Amino acid sequence: MQILGIDIGGSGIKGRLVDVESGELIGERHRIETPKPSTPAAVAEVVVKIVRHFNYRGPVGVTFPAIVQHGVTLSAANVDPGWIGAPAQQIFTEATGLPVYVLNDADAAGVAEMTFGAGREFQQGIVILLTFGTGIGGAIFHDGKLLPNTEFGHVPMPLKGMDAEHYCSDKVRKELDLKWPAWAKRVDAYLKLMELLFSPDVFIIGGGVSKKFDKFAPYLQRRARIVPAQLLNDAGIVGAAMMARQQLVLH
Ligand code: BGC
Repeated sequence: MQILGIDIGGSGIKGRLVDVESGELIGERHRIETPKPSTPAAVAEVVVKIVRHFNYRGPVGVTFPAIVQHGVTLSAANVDPGWIGAPAQQIFTEATGLPVYVLNDADAAGVAEMTFGAGREFQQGIVILLTFGTGIGGAIFHDGKLLPNTEFGHVPMPLKGMDAEHYCSDKVRKELDLKWPAWAKRVDAYLKLMELLFSPDVFIIGGGVSKKFDKFAPYLQRRARIVPAQLLNDAGIVGAAMMARQQLVLH
């Protein structure tokens, strides 16, 4: 079964068809710049354009970079504040005229990695996926089951006086022009904190930096295993499509 997955990010909104049985991406990805300001109405318009581009009818899975509880967005760290308290799922459902399921972007990426990527072999114990990009997204799994909306990017860094994502996101690495060892030292301090709180068996490192894993992994000194994500940037799209099938399609 093919389902359209749409990944809403701070800079781009991307859609692609997904074969939800195999996790394979079908055909080309369609990307449109995120409108500025990224208000609910402006973003909904882009989502409609992506649906039309694929000439698609059917359930749609949408990721959003915020807390998404029962279809309502409850935060807005890197998007327009108009999303706080917005009924995102209802907005997209009405705009597209299709059944839409909305979930947090890191949760979606985590679901995809656990099923088709780096997490496949870790169905027992505790797995934490962290995506390093503009912000930091997090997802935690216990025996393969997701605990949603954990917002690990906003954990305060001890003695640093800032959230983890303002200390060691990939955006921070680029803005401060940090060399890999210097950035890795920050990430290691963050993982140390996460390890203290959750004792995970495995960390999966996702986001754009997963392609550069060899450059920073040697500097990470945690007890837990640390592995790179395998599905790269389209993990969110795959996870969103899978969740739309699970939530919206009667079996
Ligand atoms: C948001 C999270 C999101 C992460 C990655 C954070 O700023 O609060 O909801 O998962 O960025 O996009």
